[in-house]
Amino acid sequence: MTPASFTARGWDRLRLRQSPHMRNLAAETEFTTSHFVQPLFFVDGLTAPDGRETIPGLGDDNTRCNERALVETVARDLDAGVRHFLLFAVPAEKRGTLDTSHVTRAVRAIKGAFGDRLCLWVDVCLCSSTTHGHCAVLDAKGGIALGPTLEALAAYAVAAADAGADGVSPSDMMDGRTAHLRAALDAAGHVRVPVMSYSTKFASKFYGPFRAAADSSPQHGDRAHYQIDVRARVDAIQSSVRCAEEGADLLMVKPGMTSIDLIRPIAEATGKLVGAYQVSGEYAGLRALAREGLVDVDAALVETWHVFRRAGAAYIITYGARRAAALGWPVR
Ligand code: PBG
Repeated sequence: MTPASFTARGWDRLRLRQSPHMRNLAAETEFTTSHFVQPLFFVDGLTAPDGRETIPGLGDDNTRCNERALVETVARDLDAGVRHFLLFAVPAEKRGTLDTSHVTRAVRAIKGAFGDRLCLWVDVCLCSSTTHGHCAVLDAKGGIALGPTLEALAAYAVAAADAGADGVSPSDMMDGRTAHLRAALDAAGHVRVPVMSYSTKFASKFYGPFRAAADSSPQHGDRAHYQIDVRARVDAIQSSVRCAEEGADLLMVKPGMTSIDLIRPIAEATGKLVGAYQVSGEYAGLRALAREGLVDVDAALVETWHVFRRAGAAYIITYGARRAAALGWPVR
């Protein structure tokens, strides 16, 4: 019998070579629509418009979707050249316990409709599900209960993979979660499912519009005791190194625009592909400038995406991914 740990290592070079979309994303010497990742927001139980479909500041092209709207949106995005999607699934109500049925339904809706025409990455975090809005299970004193948190994250990732997700993307910033997810996925038979880790994620003011859309604002305190301090360069790089050692297939800096200096150092320290997440506040900032008549939003987006590339980003997660083809990137 091959030991489980050896099996996991054996797949490390193979996961990103499996499908044309994965290979296109990992092809670093050209940049096409396959290098852009489009976030999607699924809100369970959204039957009638609730007045909050549009995500504050992101413009009407970024909406909170029910299952039907999700499928319609993805169909349009595929036509526009998008190949990679990052799904945020928000439960109908926060029960405090981890229920992943909404994740399963959203993944099945998309993969059932489009199959291998796209790669679906699922954001793995607890902050949309917990009553307190933190990314962890808390203990009686309000501190992080790391063991139960890792178990819950692993269950979330396995549920997403069981439903057909092509990859999982832990965004919680708990210590050891990449290794824990990898082990849980392997144990459940998902040795082929890659992990795109939010490996260098700062505590940032630029997540505001996202938290409104994902119903994930902390009800008390902030996320400074698990997300990285913007002043801490060594911590920022080591956090990605640790994720790489734990088996992450893809690394990421976030917020992208304010982490531009770290992309190349992380890539060199780890030998891994590093992406940049242009987060909701950064994207909304450009939209706000455009509303004031101070900037052409498309030209500004193109500029920021070129800068991500110049800085060494292997892929870009942006709310404007669906505009990349129209803005000149070849569709692949
Ligand atoms: C959940 C999560 C957040 C984002 C992605 N996943 C918010 C947070 O950490 O508070 C932010 C994305 C964005 O602002 O566009 N943990």
